[in-house]
Amino acid sequence: MSEKKIMVSGIKPSGKITLGNYIGALKNWVDNQDEFENYYFIADLHSVTVRQEPAKLRKQTLDSLALYLACGLDPEKNIIFIQSHVTAHPELSWVLSNMTYMGELNRMTQFKDKSKKNEENLNAGLFTYPVLMAADILLYQADYVPVGEDQKQHLELTRDLASRFNNRYSDTFKVPEPYIPKAGARIMSLQEPTSKMGKSDDNENGVIYITDTPEEIRRKFKRAVTDSVGIVQYNDEQPGIKNLLTIYSVLTKRPIEDIVKDYEGKGYGDFKTDVGEVVIEALNPIREKYEALISDKKYLQSIYQSGAEKAEKIARKTLRKVYKKSGFVPRF
Ligand code: TRP
Repeated sequence: MSEKKIMVSGIKPSGKITLGNYIGALKNWVDNQDEFENYYFIADLHSVTVRQEPAKLRKQTLDSLALYLACGLDPEKNIIFIQSHVTAHPELSWVLSNMTYMGELNRMTQFKDKSKKNEENLNAGLFTYPVLMAADILLYQADYVPVGEDQKQHLELTRDLASRFNNRYSDTFKVPEPYIPKAGARIMSLQEPTSKMGKSDDNENGVIYITDTPEEIRRKFKRAVTDSVGIVQYNDEQPGIKNLLTIYSVLTKRPIEDIVKDYEGKGYGDFKTDVGEVVIEALNPIREKYEALISDKKYLQSIYQSGAEKAEKIARKTLRKVYKKSGFVPRF
């Protein structure tokens, strides 16, 4: 275990988990579970930067956990926990926030975008969000963080903060690298194929949720936006078809060229139907497992409790060093 590289990642429970999350993140997590020592958490503290309904947040947090497990993440191989259960995260975040410049946070494109959309609730948490994210990562001495385009800048800040602390005091944090998955894919909305398949703010018809029934999946793929070219091929001028080809290819592990060949001379109708069936086949077993897990609250509790216990041990060790180097008097 100790020889393995350490990987840290989290997903906010602010919406239902989508096919985009599955292909872009969860599927890779499952594929990597033997190779790395993984810390995967549900980022509930991050989700409250946008106002949440408490009962819904609670439900979505447990839903996320059940889905992680249903997707095949093994709690024996990975440390799976809920972020708010490990209080070292906000504690380290506080220390790091004193070494983060306002200018650095002002430059974050995600903050700039969100502040445009969220004008009536421009809170301080939204602004310091990347500092908490840095704490999430640095507490576990991560070697790698799997990041999509939208999180690259946050990881850059994390690296800067790690080096800044190490230089100011002494070596304390490992400086993490971005991990670009071998078969990563960005899944786009079925209705607006130039924007990412969203969790909360998208057109519902453009989003496939992992818990969607076969009927819902079929309907959404039938309505998927395509183009007037009429040829199934992979290029940027046909973002809708390109996205469907990506989904098909990732889930069947078949090369795009082969799939394109199958649809030579055929219309979009057949293709859309078939992609829908591929997705149904991939998600069916996950949905069934999820349904069994979500009704077993005791089991879920045992998973997040033991996950938090394991994470806490590691996180506390790092935080103890940080506090000591900062000059705080140790309680014990
Ligand atoms: N900010 C990430 C997102 O919105 C979620 C996240 C929080 C995260 N803490 C993290 C991801 C630490 C990787 C590592 O997707």
